[in-house]
Amino acid sequence: MIKAVRLLVLPFFISACSRDYQPADHANGEQIYLEACSQCHRTAANASIFQLHAKNTNANYISEKVLHGSAFMPSFPNITGNNLVLISDYVLEHSEIADE
Ligand code: HEC
Repeated sequence: MIKAVRLLVLPFFISACSRDYQPADHANGEQIYLEACSQCHRTAANASIFQLHAKNTNANYISEKVLHGSAFMPSFPNITGNNLVLISDYVLEHSEIADE
């Protein structure tokens, strides 16, 4: 019984740490966002994606999140190079700066 529970729980923890999602060739920022991010974050269709703190409104902050994740967000080590630029630009273009 204990063993069965462990088998169920383990894959969940692994998938919460890192995703092996790989963008398709020539994917654009919107495609990457819809495939990799929109499951947890809202889409830009009706509202802005994020209300970012002013100090975080830069591509560096977004790409750090994508590459390294956080306690509750998985990392995406295969979103690299130009794809990382595309997804960061897309998120920034569709987010606002939060009022202090
Ligand atoms: C499994 C759910 C999940 C997925 C998938 C996910 N995120 Fe997140 N993300 C979170 C959670 C939870 C937070 C809030 C905790 C934190 O800030 O680390 C977060 C926070 C963020 C933040 C910080 C927002 C702020 O207000 O400072 C950014 C930027 C972000 N995610 C971008 C992305 C991008 C881009 C993708 C797709 C490549 C993505 N996330 C995929 C769960 C996810």
